[in-house]
Amino acid sequence: ALPVVAIVGATGAVGVELLECLEQRDFPLSELRLLASPRSAGKTMTFKGKEITVQALDENSFDGVNIALFSAGGSISKVYGPIAVKAGAVVVDNSSAFRQDPNVPLVVPEVNPEAVKQHQGIIANPNCSTIIALVPLWPLHAKNRITRFIAATYQAASGAGAAAMEELREGTRAYLEGKPFTPTVLPHPYAFNLFSHNAKVDPANGYNEEEMKMVKETWKIFGDADIRISATCVRVPVLRAHSEALTVEFERPITPAEVKDILATAPGVRIVDDWEKNYFPMPVDASGQGDILVGRIRQDISDPSGRSIQLFVAGDQLLKGAALNAVQIAELL
Ligand code: A2P
Repeated sequence: ALPVVAIVGATGAVGVELLECLEQRDFPLSELRLLASPRSAGKTMTFKGKEITVQALDENSFDGVNIALFSAGGSISKVYGPIAVKAGAVVVDNSSAFRQDPNVPLVVPEVNPEAVKQHQGIIANPNCSTIIALVPLWPLHAKNRITRFIAATYQAASGAGAAAMEELREGTRAYLEGKPFTPTVLPHPYAFNLFSHNAKVDPANGYNEEEMKMVKETWKIFGDADIRISATCVRVPVLRAHSEALTVEFERPITPAEVKDILATAPGVRIVDDWEKNYFPMPVDASGQGDILVGRIRQDISDPSGRSIQLFVAGDQLLKGAALNAVQIAELL
C-alpha cells in the first residue's frame, strides 16, 4: 500500500513548499494529512486539485501515518517527533532538535543517501546554509579532500519563517512610504539593512548558533570532523534564497577549470559563471529552483600554493534548503 504522509507545520513557509514538492514530484502516497496549530484548524489547502482540511496537531494526529515531515520548529519536533515514531511513522525533521543525536542520520541525498538506512525512526534535515554549501562542495571533496573552508552567508528572510517574510515586505513598504515601523519577528530593521544572524552568540567563542551549525553539521554529513570550518552568517533583505561566499582549501593544488569540470556533472548543481556579462548566482534566479547555482569560480590569489578556490553560490532556502531536501529524503525511504 502507498504510504500515508503527514506534514506538521503545513501552513508555514516550509510547509507550503513541502506540499508543493510532494505534488510536483508526484510523490507516491495514499493520503496526505495536514497538521498545524489550532489557529489554522479548519483552513483548507489544495493538493493535486483537491482541498484538504488542516487539522490541529495533537497526540492522535499520527494514527496510521507512515512518513511525517516536520517543519513547525524545534520544540514541536521534540514533543511530537517521538509520538509520531511511537505511532509507527518515520519522521523527517526540518528543525535542529535531533541533528546532533548520534542515532539520527543527518542527510543530504546528493552527499550521504546511504545514511538514511541507519535511522531509528527519525532522520534530520540539515540547516539550510549547510545544505546549500555542501551540495557543490561534496563532489569537489570526493576528488580532492577539502581541508578547510570559510563561509560568509547572505541569508534570506524565509529561514525565519513566513512571518519574517511578511515583516520584510511590510517593513519595506513602510520605509518607502516614510512611515515608522517596529519589527516584531526579527530583532532589527530589515528593509534596506542587513544584520548578523539573530541566533544566540556563544560567549565562549563569539560564534552564533547558525555559524556553529554549519561547522558541526558539515562534519557529520561529510563524515570528516578534521575539516576546519569558519562561518559568518548574515541576514540580508532577500525573500527566499540564500547566497554564500565560500573560500575552500584543498589537500592538493586545484584549478578553476578542474572545479568547473567536476561541478558540470554534479547532481543538484548548476554553473552560472559568465565573466564577460558579469552574470553570477543571484537569489532571484535561485528562487523557485531546486538546483544550487555556483559561480565566481576562481583561484584564491591570497594562496600562492594553488590549493584554494573562491566560489559564490545561491540556493532556494525553502526548496533545497528545506522542503525539497526533506522530500528527497522521503523518496529514499
Ligand atoms: P500555524 O500557521 O497554525 O501557526 P513558519 O516556519 O513559517 O513560522 O511556520 C511554522 C509552522 O508551524 C506553521 O505551520 C505553524 O502553524 C506551525 N505551528 C506553530 N506552532 C504550532 C503548534 N503549537 N502546533 C502545531 N503547529 C504549530
